[in-house]
Amino acid sequence: MSMSDDEQRMQNLVSLAKRRGFIFPGSEIYGGYANTWDYGPYGVQLRKNIRDAWWQRFVTGRLDVVGVETPVIMSPKVWEASGHVGGFSDPMVDCKKCKNRFRADHLLEENGGAMPTACPECRGELTEVRQFNLMFKTNVGPMDDDLASAYLRPETAQGMFTAWKNVRDAMRVRLPYGIAQIGKAFRNEITTGNFIFRTREFEQMEIEYFVHPDHADEAFEMWLLEMKSWVRDVLKLPEESVVYQEIGEGDRAHYSSRTIDVEYKYPFGQKELYGLANRSDYDLKKHQEVSGEDLTWRDPHTGEKVLPYVIEPTWGLDRTVLAVLLAHMDEDAAPTSEKDKTESRVVLRLPKNLAPVKVAVFPLQKKEDLQTKAKELISALQAYGMAVEYDESGSIGKRYRRQDEIGTPWCVTLDMDSIEDGSATIRDRDTLEQERVVISDIPKTLFEQLHSNS
Ligand code: GAP
Repeated sequence: MSMSDDEQRMQNLVSLAKRRGFIFPGSEIYGGYANTWDYGPYGVQLRKNIRDAWWQRFVTGRLDVVGVETPVIMSPKVWEASGHVGGFSDPMVDCKKCKNRFRADHLLEENGGAMPTACPECRGELTEVRQFNLMFKTNVGPMDDDLASAYLRPETAQGMFTAWKNVRDAMRVRLPYGIAQIGKAFRNEITTGNFIFRTREFEQMEIEYFVHPDHADEAFEMWLLEMKSWVRDVLKLPEESVVYQEIGEGDRAHYSSRTIDVEYKYPFGQKELYGLANRSDYDLKKHQEVSGEDLTWRDPHTGEKVLPYVIEPTWGLDRTVLAVLLAHMDEDAAPTSEKDKTESRVVLRLPKNLAPVKVAVFPLQKKEDLQTKAKELISALQAYGMAVEYDESGSIGKRYRRQDEIGTPWCVTLDMDSIEDGSATIRDRDTLEQERVVISDIPKTLFEQLHSNS
């Protein structure tokens, strides 16, 4: 059976990610461990650049949002109060014969709304539908009993709700006020897969935006615009590949009174990238009830005490990496001057500020004075905070190909004239234009281009 274009594109991405050091299969020397992935050197840098851009935009770049970092393992009471112990589950059925486990709602959908009578894999008998909780349970301390059991957080959000009282008291909070966190979350997902799309360990970037109940709707609209701007202006995802989907009542999470999903058209289908929810006072009310603490906010002007509503924009970091790589992976004809056996080139047209390497420096020949000059340029670029690579092996065409595949915006080649007149050639990843420039001007010029968000 031949592969569809979409399947081919996905396979190209997975193999590029491995070949070029972005993402590797996890525990591979032991034959792998299903649905776990190692981020390699370029993957880690790309993730860091995304995180930094996010933090800069939504935390340091605003006066109404602050950051926190709270533990992965919190008091188990948090998850009872939040409704995750009781409600964070998927309906499942098991096959008694082949032992496969299926999402009951998926089987219903595939079977035209009726529950199939036999296993879709082996025709074996299916069990009754059972609720399967998605939280990972673990033991804290030496005892292995229920009193010692705790959970790995399935969302970072609850850390902001439990920290709300202390932040409120320490920071002289005025509503509206957001608390942000970036961190790992864990879910014992039944149906994992599609590369890094759905894994059991993943990273979230979340904001809980506390507002007066009267202003919840306008805060929701404000965050919708912010999310749109992030997708368009920072990630530069093509407009036609992103859909903003209002989620119906029956499909929303247990805490949400309104949800819009930001969906991306992945090669394996249109699926969730991010979410925006109105959590109303659901969480604070529950935590107030169970903890007995007063979680209201008192307006210093009017004296009014309110339990804030919470608008929650949430971003999955791993899905961001996937969408960014898919959206910007491109293939075009290699320019004649750079052809080195290959007629075409694969190029990651990553937004420059997200690219893991900003500049690659190549001495044309392995000569000492050229190498020294190249290293001097590298130090000057690094002093501007730019990640740089040095490559002196193979033809220039091959060196360009490597950098194109990891998305490096600029390559600088030094040749014998560089020694004579202090000039070098800058080659642009996207336009393929080559320009002769003064070496000492390069760091500042590129730094400025990087921050012009072009
Ligand atoms: N606090 C709200 C919350 O957790 P969610 O829609 O369940 O909402 C938020 O998750 C985001 O986390 C999703 O939009 C997605 O980007 C990411 N995410 C959720 N489950 C994931 C998984 N199993 N693998 C990778 N990313 C996931």
